Amino acid sequence: MCGIVGAVAQRDVAEILVEGLRRLEYRGYDSAGVAVINQGELSRTRRVGKVQELAQALAEMPLAGGTGIAHTRWATHGEPSERNAHPHVSHEDIAVVHNGIIENHVKLRNMLQQQGYVFSSDTDTEVICHLVHLELTRHDSLLAAVQATVKQLEGAYGTVVIDRRDSERMIVARSGSPLVIGYGLGENFVASDQLALLPVTRSFSFLEEGDVAEITRRSVTIYDVNGAQVEREIKESEVTHDAGDKGEYRHYMLKEIYEQPLALSRTLADRTANMQVLDSAFGDNASEFLKDIKHVQIIACGTSYHAGMAARYWLEQWAGVSCNVEIASEFRYRKSYMYPNSLLVTISQSGETADTLAALRLAKEMGYKATMTICNAPGSSLVRESDMAYMMKAGAEIGVASTKAFTVQLAGLMMLTAVLGRYNGMSDEMQTAMTQSLLSLPAKVEQALSLDDAIAELAEDFADKSNALFLGRGDQYPIAMEGALKLKEISYIHAEAYASGELKHGPLALIDADMPVIVVAPNNELLEKLKSNVEEVRARGGLMYVFADIDAEFESDDTMKVIPVPHCDEFMAPLIYTIPLQLLSYHVALIKGTDVDQPRNLAKSVTVE
Ligand code: F6R
Repeated sequence: MCGIVGAVAQRDVAEILVEGLRRLEYRGYDSAGVAVINQGELSRTRRVGKVQELAQALAEMPLAGGTGIAHTRWATHGEPSERNAHPHVSHEDIAVVHNGIIENHVKLRNMLQQQGYVFSSDTDTEVICHLVHLELTRHDSLLAAVQATVKQLEGAYGTVVIDRRDSERMIVARSGSPLVIGYGLGENFVASDQLALLPVTRSFSFLEEGDVAEITRRSVTIYDVNGAQVEREIKESEVTHDAGDKGEYRHYMLKEIYEQPLALSRTLADRTANMQVLDSAFGDNASEFLKDIKHVQIIACGTSYHAGMAARYWLEQWAGVSCNVEIASEFRYRKSYMYPNSLLVTISQSGETADTLAALRLAKEMGYKATMTICNAPGSSLVRESDMAYMMKAGAEIGVASTKAFTVQLAGLMMLTAVLGRYNGMSDEMQTAMTQSLLSLPAKVEQALSLDDAIAELAEDFADKSNALFLGRGDQYPIAMEGALKLKEISYIHAEAYASGELKHGPLALIDADMPVIVVAPNNELLEKLKSNVEEVRARGGLMYVFADIDAEFESDDTMKVIPVPHCDEFMAPLIYTIPLQLLSYHVALIKGTDVDQPRNLAKSVTVE
């Protein structure tokens, strides 16, 4: 949520900052702004709308200056408007960008107003710049003033502060919202995601909770929460391709859907041997943690939660361990029961989702035997704070609607099933079958992608619909849920998913000719039951779209369009059936003309509650 970029350099930085914002736009896109210091003057440009509006404004009236900060916003406090766009300034001296929420902003605002500060926005962020301004009357350096300021802030923030009178430095602070420092030659940078800085550097260090850093052109000095100077390891970026580029694709989402065979190959590489999944896929000491596990508690949000729901079927059916799955925002605010020998697994593309992180911290307090994250972001908070990490290696996901991260999460969870199964009596044959299935995933997904043209045609039927129902059974129920989420997210069609056995307990009342029903029907032991559910819909005049195994013996007629899906085994079926549902939502959104990569009201990486 919200993207931040900052730079201290000898060259003019406005273009670097705006390019960084473009790469962060997936984090928020209701307004954007930049402020730079040039020869002792602070200049600022802000625009409502996408980063392109800001870029246009800067093309017409460029800003010079080697020290600057920039921000793309996802509104929390105050409507999207120019006056609420960042950077915020105090007395034309201090400029601040901020990601997160300052929970005690009302109290601070009142205190600052009593001191004579005049507010020009409705944001919580503006308290930060006035507080820094106030603290500078009590301290002799920007660093000290920011350190004194952050002590008064409650809530989550990643913030960058510059001072017109001291263009040599920027001060950055992290508590709850990620910040990464980028190291250049005679110039240094900061951003809320390394993606923003890939055009200018590949060397990064990640700030930890409570860190405050002073960044100049030639130095980076980091202080921990107690004010002690600390070192944070500098690493070369593992991002192997420049994900900021859409390449030949019209949208990031489509690119990422098509990248799935590659992403799956990467996630599988070096993680199996002799037809078994290696414990080391989950980190160096994973065996120690995993060998006694008897229960798994999965915590996640949104799409990642759906991956966890599918894994529950697998862990209980094949690995012989019990499993609960819960939405992070629920888990963190209730008293839950912890089973003996429990493993806590968080699933997160970004590794920074505020609710998931809070749930992990709570679980650690509760005394879970071990914690693991299935995560796509190296160096993220979830990775750093978990005992074990399955690094997804899906590559950066820019489209707000998660696609390749979901299928890679499923692959990681299947691997976890194999490994925990081995400790709990899974046969060698079963492990071999599972591993074989995993290894054939990239090719099978490639095959499933060939449905694209047929699905594009089908999508026409949905353009004038306001509702849709998705049905699945067993581990295809979470896939139906994911299909419904994708459709509503990017096409704004109201969509619900039901376990098809639930139909007659209420949702059948919704069925009529205006309600398309999408069914996922692999050829498994639930197929006959599913066919009965299909008949229930047919009898009530519903129009169905059935994604069915070529051997499942469904036939298209007036009431049913059958889309044959390549035959696949039971392990990989949920993952394969995901592909046509992703393509369907994409093509429906295209026809409806919505903003596929940046759907309204959403942001990727939800770092606020
Ligand atoms: C939907 C989507 C979201 C995320 C959710 C969790 O397409 O992307 O539902 O899955 O916000 O995000 P992560 O996985 O980053 O924790």
